[in-house]
Amino acid sequence: VEDFPYYKSVGYGGLPNEAMEVELDAAYMDGDTLDIGAIGAIKDFANPISIAKRLSKEKVNNMLVGYGAEKFAYDEGFESKNMLTDRAKIHYHNRQQEILQQQIKPYDGHDTVGMVCLDNDGKMTAATSTSGLFMKKQGRIGDSPISGFYVDSEIGGAAATGLGEDLMKGCISYEIVRLMKEGKHPQQACEIAVNQLDKELKERRGEAGDISVVAMNNKGEWGANISGFSFVVATDTQEPIVYLTKNINGQCIHGKASEEWLNEYMQERMKPIIKK
Ligand code: GLY
Repeated sequence: VEDFPYYKSVGYGGLPNEAMEVELDAAYMDGDTLDIGAIGAIKDFANPISIAKRLSKEKVNNMLVGYGAEKFAYDEGFESKNMLTDRAKIHYHNRQQEILQQQIKPYDGHDTVGMVCLDNDGKMTAATSTSGLFMKKQGRIGDSPISGFYVDSEIGGAAATGLGEDLMKGCISYEIVRLMKEGKHPQQACEIAVNQLDKELKERRGEAGDISVVAMNNKGEWGANISGFSFVVATDTQEPIVYLTKNINGQCIHGKASEEWLNEYMQERMKPIIKK
């Protein structure tokens, strides 16, 4: 997905910050050793998730940002690449026009990709990758490399997306794993954690940003609490299935996306865009 230019909030083709630069965040965690590698606000390198994974093998200096992350990536031979596509430039230009004309918030729009994996030996990993909020300030880092993921092969793992600034207030991925450790099914853990954080934010701050999570335990049972996104489940014997979620009073009902929905999704992503 980091290489797919039409997916506009991850990797190549990700949407830029307010200075029209693509700054990427990513993290990788190993559920056996609890090793973590993370990068923030890295520019001009392809596949930030591979750089984060490489950093997880280090004993110290596991999270690098900006120039330091770029120097590490360069020294380790990762592919340098201009990640700003012409399509992303048009989105940037159009958003500027919309902001001028309609005074909409520059920050609308974010879609981290988060994954939780379990292999045949029982090892679990979790990872996130994102270009973060569209039109963010230079150097802004969201939840993705900080608290947007957590995994422990003895329990399970979780990954989150939504408004990073709000997600960080709850360390929600860790909270989901903690709930699974208490014996909660991943679906229950996702619903409890999201409902709790959403309620807390609304009570204390009057509003809450989007919060979406996926989780899996070490038996391969999964759950999700998703607002406005789709998610995918795949196994070694089952082709990837795309699911959509209806949230009814805090309870999630997942249904398989239809062929029609999938076709429309791809058409929408890939349709030509016109400079306003
Ligand atoms: N959740 C992605 C971000 O806020 O950067």
